[in-house]
Amino acid sequence: MKFRFTAVAIAAALIGVAQPSFAASISISASSTGKNLELFRKQLDAFEKATGNKVSIVTMPSSSTEQFSQYRLWLAAGNKDVDVYQTDVIWAPQLADQFVDLKDAAKDVVGDFFPSIIASQTVNGRLVAMPLYTDAPALFYRKDLLDKYGKQPPKTWDEMAATAKEIQEKERGAGQKDLWGFVFQGNAYEGLTCNALEWVKSSGGGQIIEADGTISINNEKAAGALDRAKGWIGTISPPGVLAYQEEESRGVWQTGNAVFMRNWPYAYALGNGADSAVKGKFDVATLPVAKDGDTPSSTLGGWNLAVSKYSQNQDAAIALVKFLTSQESQKQRAIELSNLPTLQALYDDKDIAAAQPFMPNWKPIFQNAVPRPSASAKVKYNEVSSKFWTAVHNSLSGNGTSAENLELLEADLTSLKGDNW
Ligand code: GLC
Repeated sequence: MKFRFTAVAIAAALIGVAQPSFAASISISASSTGKNLELFRKQLDAFEKATGNKVSIVTMPSSSTEQFSQYRLWLAAGNKDVDVYQTDVIWAPQLADQFVDLKDAAKDVVGDFFPSIIASQTVNGRLVAMPLYTDAPALFYRKDLLDKYGKQPPKTWDEMAATAKEIQEKERGAGQKDLWGFVFQGNAYEGLTCNALEWVKSSGGGQIIEADGTISINNEKAAGALDRAKGWIGTISPPGVLAYQEEESRGVWQTGNAVFMRNWPYAYALGNGADSAVKGKFDVATLPVAKDGDTPSSTLGGWNLAVSKYSQNQDAAIALVKFLTSQESQKQRAIELSNLPTLQALYDDKDIAAAQPFMPNWKPIFQNAVPRPSASAKVKYNEVSSKFWTAVHNSLSGNGTSAENLELLEADLTSLKGDNW
């Protein structure tokens, strides 16, 4: 009740700035991961009530890769049916020209956001999307099972695999036949780029393309990191993991069938939901490293809201983006979905810390997270990523060795780069 009242008041205040002369009908396309659409609907209802506008949701698949392909087609065709797009942090350089510059509209609030996140959505001086939430993955672990076998949350990948194997074997022996040691995202899509970047970077193998544009991926440490991951398939990870995205890994985890899971913070609130078999039984730690002393590496993720250049109701669309990224809306998103806020002040918010105790600890983790090479590869990022995840997927599937696949990848990326990115 209290929230609804404040949300309505905020929406009304926003609309005072961008009052359309008559109520508009707009639409927002958004990902169906977890309870994202449910929360959006609740917030859209509040926005509708305050403004008289109508907002419909265009439901998108969970996969970032599938969303990107669809959005690129719609935007290239000048589609007028979608006003607001929920956009992945890596897309800004590629879709910038199709989105409205939000710099003026956001000038009263932009200083409240983390500057690095605003920078990631700024292309040639234009703010092409407003940050909705940020993302940095965790190693989810079953506290009850680790305690039962006297284990600590693992610091290295090998420690993780050894603990996973021991608990998997012992629990299976005791009748838990469906238990696996570790689930992650092994499907050939953007999520695998994120997972593999973490394995490589935390092993000292670089970040695919370095900040200065150098292609660094063909090296022994990177190949070693992929070989290590290949060893998990069919031993501590189900063979089907090669087709898992976030939601499939969460499905296995949340039914109580995994000791460890690599996933994004959204899985925390869902894992503690009333219908979850692991409610109250797990905690999160930073991802492991190759050996003591290596730097833990989480890939930087996150989602934003952009207004289409082809929208015929840009004022209403901008007001909606401001409403959904406001302090009140982000607070509700943090409490209900455990999505990490992009507003600095919310990391000191007591209600958020009480609802999602891991969250204050996650601020340094996303601030030190590893960016994917979207800023260096610019408009070619999607091709870079798809070549990378293909090489990784082949290596994990035993289709060529990691060393061979990375050598081919280097040659491919070199010709894609040409004279410059
Ligand atoms: C998460 C991240 C996003 C990433 C995606 C990959 O949604 O926030 O940045 O691209 O996972 O599956």
